[in-house]
Amino acid sequence: MRLLAISGSLRADSHNSRLLRIAAEEAPGGVELIVYDGLAAIPPYDADLDTSPAPPPVRRLRELIASSDGLVFSTPEYNSSIPGVLKNAIDWASRPRATTPLSGKPAGVMGASTGQFGAVWAQAELRKVLGSAGARVVDAELSLANADNSFDQEGKLTGEATREALADLVSAVALEVSRDRELALAP
Ligand code: FNR
Repeated sequence: MRLLAISGSLRADSHNSRLLRIAAEEAPGGVELIVYDGLAAIPPYDADLDTSPAPPPVRRLRELIASSDGLVFSTPEYNSSIPGVLKNAIDWASRPRATTPLSGKPAGVMGASTGQFGAVWAQAELRKVLGSAGARVVDAELSLANADNSFDQEGKLTGEATREALADLVSAVALEVSRDRELALAP
């Protein structure tokens, strides 16, 4: 099964992107996690440009989502919400409403911040936005607070509980995908 991992941060040294890279390295057997690298290329949403064919970076994003079995997001918190670049990408992916690849897609949400709350407000916002676009957000949670002090010099997570929560979140999305497959096969 293939999961698409999307970080809400464009920063090269992003804690959120690092979480997703670790998730990709440690994904369970049978699960391939691909970290999306195209967020910076997505243009600002403009309904006048939302034609067929869509701008190439948007087409690629929509195709990547469509060809993935599920999604894993990690978002920073910017002023108590999600970064505009992430919202913008989801807005593109959510159109056209009738054919959005987000519809019914299992999705996991986590977040990291350098403050004490681990981007909990941003995660709540992201859950709302994804739900509104038709994705099915799983219950598993990971809020990484004090992210500046949560990785060692090699970029590995120092906290065992965080490592477990990360694995649980990926597994929760994978489980949802497996359930969908079983339902699709049921007589
Ligand atoms: C922040 N940051 C932040 N943190 C937080 O906990 N609540 C907030 O409302 C905000 N607001 C905010 C606004 C803007 C414009 C920036 C640039 C930053 C801090 C932010 O969570 C921190 O920089 C994270 O480390 C960013 O995530 P990445 O880039 O490391 O993934």
